[in-house]
Amino acid sequence: MPKLQAPKGTRDFYPKDMAWRNHIVDAWRRVSIRNGFDQVDGPIFESLDLYKVKSGEGIVSELFHFTDRGERELAIRPEFTPTLARMVAEQANALPKPIKWFCTPNLCRAEKPQRGRLREFWQWNVDILGSDLPVADAECIFTAVDLLKELGLGPQHLRVKISHRQTVRHILKKLGVVEEKHTAAFELLDRRDKIEPAEFTNGAKALGLDEERVARFDQICRMEFNSGSLGVLYDSLGIDPKDASVADIQQLDDQLRAFGIAEWCVFDLGIVRGLAYYTGTVFEIHETSGAMRALAGGGRYDQLIELFGGPKTPAVGFGMGDVVLSDVLRDKGLVPEDTTPRPDVFVIASSDRGAGAVASNVAKLRLDGFHARFSYKTTRNVGKLLKDASDARARFVLILGDAVGDAAGEGQGQLKDLAGGTQIDIALGDVSSKLRV
Ligand code: HAM
Repeated sequence: MPKLQAPKGTRDFYPKDMAWRNHIVDAWRRVSIRNGFDQVDGPIFESLDLYKVKSGEGIVSELFHFTDRGERELAIRPEFTPTLARMVAEQANALPKPIKWFCTPNLCRAEKPQRGRLREFWQWNVDILGSDLPVADAECIFTAVDLLKELGLGPQHLRVKISHRQTVRHILKKLGVVEEKHTAAFELLDRRDKIEPAEFTNGAKALGLDEERVARFDQICRMEFNSGSLGVLYDSLGIDPKDASVADIQQLDDQLRAFGIAEWCVFDLGIVRGLAYYTGTVFEIHETSGAMRALAGGGRYDQLIELFGGPKTPAVGFGMGDVVLSDVLRDKGLVPEDTTPRPDVFVIASSDRGAGAVASNVAKLRLDGFHARFSYKTTRNVGKLLKDASDARARFVLILGDAVGDAAGEGQGQLKDLAGGTQIDIALGDVSSKLRV
């Protein structure tokens, strides 16, 4: 029998790993809800064609795909945006606007497994559809920042890098890259930090750029501007201040300041995103040292719903993966020691008489809403049982001994506070109210 292993780039989630994943997914959910998003989900596989329309070469080359018995070509979802666009296109007229949706799907991409990138991962998606106002872009970014803060991260750890595809298109045009090659240019720019300089230069040459223009191209991509200094950016690039992309970015900058998150944000023309459907603002969240892969990425995709047969519906959103987020939290020492749920109470029996009362007491405590566990053992060696309770990280131990059922029909036990060390005699009917205080 060959050794059976989990497929390359996937993870098994043992209880501690599962608790950690829940810690992240619960935070995604909590933050989404308080920011006014409704949860959705879709199928784990879709028609292969869905991704071929507009996701771009990068994603399509990484698809896990198969043919079903009816000869239909299907693919495991590598991202959620096409599913979301399909769902919105189907019911667009019935949905109140703006549509604010979130989801936390698992996705699969046949990437080369490496730090920050696996073949199966979980991704938080946050999207607003039906508004072309920069306030929607700002609200998405605010929601992402809210999540980072929720998990203990600050602007010293992460940066939201923002750019605009239209601005990058202007630059490409000025450098002489023809319109048909812009998508290829975005993909090349997106991979800039992942490939060797020679590969980048060759790619740029294929776009029609000579050495000098490659250098200029590269130099522009390294330009960063803080909130409030956008005028300088557009001046230095010779972009008409009346251009729609200038107004978009300017208004976004104002909104980011109004939301109080400008210190997290920087305008960086090197951000273009690899996916083909983005039309306007694009952004990514990176760890400040720049050592890690992007933690999140998104932007405006104002034409995708129409392309999927729906009415014209502007849209903006982002995806954040669990892998880089976990790496960042681990690196910054923000991982709680154990995130598995702690029992409120652990019930033990130190006599046969006590053992007979364990199940009924546990059942009552559980019905009262407490996380109650119990020992299958009965022994007079209470110390051993207390150790089991403490290993389970219980807050309290309920000890059922000889006294159970003694006091005039009112069962008695002892309640030990494992953190404080205090132990009291207690009527069994009072345990729930005692645990509540
Ligand atoms: P994306 O940039 O392909 O965008 O992915 C967003 C995030 O998902 C990445 O920044 C990363 O954290 C995570 N991610 C991507 N691939 C992997 C992988 N192989 N392993 C681990 N994590 C990964 C999208 O997927 C867009 N659909 C996001 C979006 C939503 N745009 C608008 N709405």
